[in-house]
Amino acid sequence: MICGIASDHGGFKLKEAVKNEFLHINWKDMGCFSEESVDYPDYIAKLAKAILNNEFDKGIAICGTGIGASIMANRFTNIRAALCHNEFTAEMSRKHNDANILVLGGRVLKNEEAYKIIKIFFNTEFEGGRHENRIKKIENLCL
Ligand code: RB5
Repeated sequence: MICGIASDHGGFKLKEAVKNEFLHINWKDMGCFSEESVDYPDYIAKLAKAILNNEFDKGIAICGTGIGASIMANRFTNIRAALCHNEFTAEMSRKHNDANILVLGGRVLKNEEAYKIIKIFFNTEFEGGRHENRIKKIENLCL
C-alpha cells in the first residue's frame, strides 16, 4: 500500500515513528524533514495536492495539535481530513465520512495511541449508503 504522510515540526517526531512502525507501507514523505520550525500549510498542501493528483489514495497529516493541519487540508475540494484522537473517531471517520486524510496531533497523542488509530483508519471501509449523499453535499453546498 502506498500512503502519503506530511507534518510540520510539531508532528515530525511522530511522523518518523509512524514510518518506522508501519514498515510494510510504502510511505511518500512530503516533509518536513527535521524539527526546525516550519509552516504547516506548506507540507499539508503538498499532501492534499498529491492525493488529488492520484499519487496515492490516503494520507496522514500531523502537526502539534492536528488543528492547523485539519484546517489546511479541508480547504481542498474532495479532501476529507479527519482529526482523530481515539480509535472510535478513526473508525467513524472512515465508515461515515470516507476520510482520505487522517490528522493526528503530535503533541496530543502518545505513539502507541497513534498507532492504534492508524490501524483502525486503514482497516475500516466506508459504509456508503446515506453517507454517500451527505459527502456529496459537502462539495455541492460550497459551490
Ligand atoms: C506549531 O508550533 C503549531 O502551531 C502547529 O504544529 C499546529 O499545532 C498548529 O495547529
